[in-house]
Amino acid sequence: MRLLIPGGAGYIGSHMVRYAQERGHDCVVLDDFSTGHEWAVKDCEILRVNLLDHDRLSQLLKGRHFDGVIHFAAKSLVGESVKKPDLYYRNNVAGTLNLVHMMRSNDVNNLVFSSTAAIFGNPVTDRIAEDHPKNPINPYGQSKLMVEHMLRDICSANDFNATCLRYFNAAGAHESGEIGEVHDPETHLIPNVLKAALSNKSSLKIFGDDYPTPDGTCIRDYVHVTDLAQAHLLGFERMQKNKGFSAFNLGNGDGFSVLEVIKGCECIANNEIQFQVDARRNGDSAVLVADNELGLRELNWNPEYRDINDIIKSAWYWHNSEKC
Ligand SMILES: NC(=O)c1ccc[n+]([C@@H]2O[C@H](COP(=O)([O-])OP(=O)(O)OC[C@H]3O[C@@H](n4cnc5c(N)ncnc54)[C@H](O)[C@@H]3O)[C@@H](O)[C@H]2O)c1
Repeated sequence: MRLLIPGGAGYIGSHMVRYAQERGHDCVVLDDFSTGHEWAVKDCEILRVNLLDHDRLSQLLKGRHFDGVIHFAAKSLVGESVKKPDLYYRNNVAGTLNLVHMMRSNDVNNLVFSSTAAIFGNPVTDRIAEDHPKNPINPYGQSKLMVEHMLRDICSANDFNATCLRYFNAAGAHESGEIGEVHDPETHLIPNVLKAALSNKSSLKIFGDDYPTPDGTCIRDYVHVTDLAQAHLLGFERMQKNKGFSAFNLGNGDGFSVLEVIKGCECIANNEIQFQVDARRNGDSAVLVADNELGLRELNWNPEYRDINDIIKSAWYWHNSEKC
């Protein structure tokens, strides 16, 4: 298959490109490198363009055939989205609308879209299934939910297929140690804990230890980035038979607290990790864990990294690699 991958130079997108290449697919990366990295992409054509640049996008994509698009390009910092909502709605919603417009004018009708658990807002059930109420509590989550609504309507009105995959917490790295997670600023727990393990002066902060959880810290669901890539290709294959709009929650279905993750990292790094407890952050729910039954069944998804320690080990390997 020939796949266009917007956001393919970012953390999850670059793992998607590797995964697809390893299975013989031809990938073209489209990225403006606002948060992506050139070193993360190899052996494929790169289209350097911002999705908001309608004219250049049209020029670059005109007349080109793709079997489909796997779309990761977005801004995804919750705090930044609260401060700059217009940036998030423009980049994530208008950018996706431009992309879909280009796809339709080039007769490319299959899209897999990176959505997020942030569309659900505060959970009202222990595990979050696809039909859980959707009340995002920040502009980032809102922008992704808007795209989901937009895609549902476009699929109903046209011969267009979209699969939205709502990830919980992506984590881990490619087994080669050549690519892994690098965000600036890094807001994700595992890379920050592992960086603290490698540094003499740890400035690691955890936010709140008075949540209604067994150890008082927030509980999250971590899903390995290669398992996410697997789910995207499966989502793509499923769309060949199941036309129209679909959405699946992608998580491991198990939750781990911040302190459990720190303990796991200490064991793997063989080092005691110092941290400070800070106040709770606005908008952090106590527990966010996926009900992943529908995705496992419908996508035929078979995640390899079911144990949190294996996810941490793969991230640790990346953090110790020369490339990181
Ligand atoms: N990392 C997670 O845990 C997580 C969880 C849920 C959902 N997501 C979603 O997954 C996707 C990928 O996340 P990530 O962690 O890899 O982020 P990332 O920032 O590493 O990657 C995003 C990529 O998109 C590119 N990009 C952004 N806006 C663009 C634009 N307008 N035009 C062209 N390129 C643009 C960036 O340069 C970057 O390469 C995002 O859509 C994010 O919302 C991530």
